[in-house]
Amino acid sequence: MVYSRITGTGSQLPAKTVTNHDLEKIMDTSDQWIQERTGICERRIVEDDETTGTLAEQACRKAMEAAQVDPSEIDLFIIGTTTPDLIFPSTACLLQKKLGLPDCGAMDVNAACSGFLYALNIADKYIRCGDAKKVLVCGAETLSKITNWNKRETAVLFADGAGAVVLEASEDPGILSSHIHANGDYADLLTTNVGVSRGWDAMEENDGKPEIMMRGNEVFKVAVRTLGRIVEETLGANNLKKSDLTWLIPHQANLRIISAMAKMLDMNMDHVVVTIDRHGNTSAGSVPLALDEAVRDGRIQRGDLLMLEAFGGGFTWGSALIRY
Ligand code: ACO
Repeated sequence: MVYSRITGTGSQLPAKTVTNHDLEKIMDTSDQWIQERTGICERRIVEDDETTGTLAEQACRKAMEAAQVDPSEIDLFIIGTTTPDLIFPSTACLLQKKLGLPDCGAMDVNAACSGFLYALNIADKYIRCGDAKKVLVCGAETLSKITNWNKRETAVLFADGAGAVVLEASEDPGILSSHIHANGDYADLLTTNVGVSRGWDAMEENDGKPEIMMRGNEVFKVAVRTLGRIVEETLGANNLKKSDLTWLIPHQANLRIISAMAKMLDMNMDHVVVTIDRHGNTSAGSVPLALDEAVRDGRIQRGDLLMLEAFGGGFTWGSALIRY
């Protein structure tokens, strides 16, 4: 039986830090409100010369270095992102040459905050069926570029960052299972106001830029319910119990959602990787960023059982159960 195993992780954050106190100066909000409602203290935001691609490039380099894999060995490259550098070519294609990858398949996957888990799911399937042996998987975003900085409901939440993993074929597990879902009935609760085919007229409302529109309270309730279902589904698919898990590595959208998930899984917060306080919501970047942080600081050890989960616009949601 062939499994895919994570052999290296990497991540990249922009250097510029924006604290809640910085935001207090430009909008009607408070550090107290943001911390109490979201758990966020600060976030990283790109400068004008940085893009999703520049963050993804560094995250991917670090992941390949950690895996001790030469770029020429990669035979599939997938980036989960909803903020690509260009409409096309994909961010993956733009980076393929820079990273020195061969002419392997390269694509972006758009599943909003679930983008990394969608990309991981596809990569895992390629390895399991024997079509790929080494896959580079990244989640990267510059959500600050589609944030309306005049709207406190969303501006305090979103941020920029990238994380990546190298997946390799292995006889030892590995990814035990991964699961992805979507329900377009909820598209209007979390969306952007413009698009290629629908047109750009609405951008006038945000200084000529697209913007994220979210009915946060409604999203919150569906997110908690849905994530609860997917972690049950994931454990059930592997005949494993909540108590078997070593680490929960959740999407970092809101500390209250993360705490609710920990409670559902009967997990102490000491076994939950939390980065939202310092990273904010980096969408597809958040899970691989959290994973890389906990791998590099030694919290996650080989043999640990990891539950990864994410929920985002679409709605989309996904999970992976991994024997690290
Ligand atoms: N500062 C101060 N007050 C604020 C702010 C702010 N930044 N934002 C909203 N408020 C006010 C509102 O105006 C409202 O005031 P009112 O009671 O006088 O009307 C009050 O705070 C409460 O607003 P709610 O929206 O009900 O606050 P809530 O507790 O729901 O928190 C939040 C909002 C943080 C957005 C939460 O709903 C949430 O995290 N939702 C889920 C987000 C999520 O998971 N998204 C999915 C992934 S993201 C992706 O896919 C790109």
